[in-house]
Amino acid sequence: MLSTSPRHQEDSHVRSRRTHRAAPTPTGPLSKIDYSERIPNNVNLAGDRRLQRALESWQPKFLDWWKTLGPSLPTRDVYLRTAVAVGRDGWAHFDHVPMEEYRWGIFLAEQDPDRKVAFGKHKGEPAWQEVPGEYRAELMRLITVQGDTEPASVEQQRILGNTAPSLYDLRNLFQVNVEEGRHLWAMVYLLQATLAARAARRQSSSSSEIPATRFTSHPRRFNEATTDWLQFFMFTYFTDRDGKYQLGTLKESAFDPLARTCEFMLKEEAHHMFVGTTGVQRTVERTAQVMSEHAGQDGFEHGVIPLDVIQKYLNFQYSVSMDLFGSEQSTNVAAYYTGGLKGRWQETRRKDDHELKEATYSVRLVKDGKIVEETVPALTALNLDLRDEYVADCENGVRRWNQELEDAGLSERLTLPHEGFNRKVGNFSSHRISPDGRVLTESDWAENESNWLPTDSDRERVAA
Ligand SMILES: [Fe+2]
Ligand SMILES: [Fe+2]
Repeated sequence: MLSTSPRHQEDSHVRSRRTHRAAPTPTGPLSKIDYSERIPNNVNLAGDRRLQRALESWQPKFLDWWKTLGPSLPTRDVYLRTAVAVGRDGWAHFDHVPMEEYRWGIFLAEQDPDRKVAFGKHKGEPAWQEVPGEYRAELMRLITVQGDTEPASVEQQRILGNTAPSLYDLRNLFQVNVEEGRHLWAMVYLLQATLAARAARRQSSSSSEIPATRFTSHPRRFNEATTDWLQFFMFTYFTDRDGKYQLGTLKESAFDPLARTCEFMLKEEAHHMFVGTTGVQRTVERTAQVMSEHAGQDGFEHGVIPLDVIQKYLNFQYSVSMDLFGSEQSTNVAAYYTGGLKGRWQETRRKDDHELKEATYSVRLVKDGKIVEETVPALTALNLDLRDEYVADCENGVRRWNQELEDAGLSERLTLPHEGFNRKVGNFSSHRISPDGRVLTESDWAENESNWLPTDSDRERVAA
């Protein structure tokens, strides 16, 4: 059953067909998006026939994938936003289209002609407009990894529309879904552009070397179905935020088309995280309201999700998202940094040599049954550097959710679990750590696991 509650009607994205009209043309330097083409874009695709052909031949595979593995619910009459222009200085102009008219396009943030490489051994050189041969394989690997993550959540969330709490939520779900699909397009564009450039140099006639089914049919890194909306909100809060930080490192890349692609993707990503932040907040707010009147009783009996279950969902999604950052120490990532392929979060705002020749970083790990700190070369700890930025960012939402509890006069609070809790990757993966950071025996863990992570029965009750 779908309904729009009055508070959500304020949302400017939910519009009826009658009130839908083109927004006024903004001022300032703009890069217009051409919608007369089969693949809307602001990269002058028409000027590169080889690339255009390669992408157009990939398009039917994508649409096929969307039809088979995209949202299971008919999406008619749901208005979505799409970019109509992309400007310099960090903004994009969006307009609204009905779902069935949505077209996946290629949008890059506008080029800065003076952009220089900001870090690594090429620091100070002009940003690359083409991939240097020596880095082609590594860059293609990075782009492929990013491309693989994009369609996964669409597949996981395909049945979620059937249980949308409101039209507002349904629209947000579809918006997130189409944009993850567009992010896949963005990565395929980069791969094809890279390949097309090489093919052109070799004067070969074909550049469509990406197998047509790559990305649209193979096992995913995370492939559990999203069965309820609390999980979706936690996913968009914690896991899309991992995406934000990964994109943030690629946005610094010396390879300018990759940097500009990711810069634009970050604008879309901001909305995904907004969906998560406010979705969890609404859930917590309702729980707080009801539980302040029914202290000590079972929230489920009163139609809300108990706070301890919300905490378990948080523990789960946070810990699996931490794994997505990879091992704390990595020599691959050090090489990416030195080569200029992948920078740090907000690289240009950091006040150091941007080469990390002498810098060190503190890493936590388990030694003799205790959690200790060790100092390692910063260059090898870049995954952790990024993850620590992410953790600090995650705290903001938790503070916001706790404000709801405080406002309702409740003493309980939500918290982020310890970085070692429930980890499958990195320094803590072979240890059992409690949410408050104690090293546990296997039996301590087994005894408490159902208090810390959602059980099947928790998930069933939330879905109900
Ligand atoms: Fe994405
Ligand atoms: Fe996202």
